[in-house]
Amino acid sequence: MVASLDIIKEIPSKEELLIAYDTGNSVILKKKNLTEDIEYITSISLKDLTSQNTSFQSEQMEGMQYLGSGVGGSVYRLINDDGKPSNKAIKIVRTFPKYKPHSLIPFNYSNLLSTTSPKERKSYAPGGIKSMTMNRFQADFFRELRHRQLQDESTPRSIPKIYQYVEGPIGNALREEIIKEDPAGDKKYPQGTYVAIWVMEYIPCIWANDFCGKIETKRNWNSVRELNDIRYSQENFAYNEIATFVLDDLGYVMKDLKNPRNFGFRANGEVVFFDPVVIPYPSQNLDNNTALMASLIYGFGGEKKFTKAINNGTYYTMRQF
Ligand SMILES: Nc1ncnc2c1ncn2[C@@H]1O[C@H](COP(=O)(O)OP(=O)(O)OP(=O)(O)O)[C@@H](O)[C@H]1O
Ligand SMILES: [Mg+2]
Repeated sequence: MVASLDIIKEIPSKEELLIAYDTGNSVILKKKNLTEDIEYITSISLKDLTSQNTSFQSEQMEGMQYLGSGVGGSVYRLINDDGKPSNKAIKIVRTFPKYKPHSLIPFNYSNLLSTTSPKERKSYAPGGIKSMTMNRFQADFFRELRHRQLQDESTPRSIPKIYQYVEGPIGNALREEIIKEDPAGDKKYPQGTYVAIWVMEYIPCIWANDFCGKIETKRNWNSVRELNDIRYSQENFAYNEIATFVLDDLGYVMKDLKNPRNFGFRANGEVVFFDPVVIPYPSQNLDNNTALMASLIYGFGGEKKFTKAINNGTYYTMRQF
């Protein structure tokens, strides 16, 4: 197995590698922590490792029309060679790598966390640990969707089509293009910062253009009860579809789907959720690193409130978090 040499080289001195199994699409490591005298098992998916490649930047640079940016990242609509806006959008998010360079050793998240002040841990400021962690999960999610769609496994209609996925240090050409239109871009993406980038379907009817008049925008977006009304049954049906698929097939719970800026409508009227906050679930199946990351994103009430809603079934039918 090609990767095994790297694994052994990268094992920290307080850890001992007991055994590594190569299952074809993942590597399972059994390690021993010498200081605490405990053995533990982690696994690393090999398909993750093919993604570190930013070469696509040069192919896609015909032009980008700024759509907006939030704490998550920046979104642009790609322009075709003939100067017309395309049916594709590109999202760039700042995050940290999943692994140490050229290895299968997970990025040391707990180290990063321990150097972060409690105040910073709470804040969703761009470039802060919380938004970078949220972006790491969302990037993983879109990479997995891309992988499924490439394998011809279908994903629900309420999920956008994903055309490309890459991650790595940001290139200068792309950085210049981002900064040109995003007023906060210069600070948000320092030179050489690590980013994940995906090209997804452009969704024409969004909050910013009043959903092309397809639905009434005057409503109490924060009211779970109101959103459950029959008037919004199309959105709720789409939510049910995506919530079920994302939890049962991909192992994530989702947040922030009440937010009208995070979904839209295709020209044919179909609802598409293009910006879910995702958290791998349940924590008991996660390695320590990922469980720690998840705990930062759960927010008030933690993982428990999700477990409760999943167990009583309301998680699948109502956008509550
Ligand atoms: N696939 C897409 N098609 C069309 N518009 C999109 C698409 N993805 C995102 N957008 C739009 O681009 C804007 C920026 O998106 P992004 O998710 O980065 O930030 P945000 O939603 O404004 O903020 P936050 O990070 O707080 O969710 C949003 O207003 C969103 O409606
Ligand atoms: Mg958003």
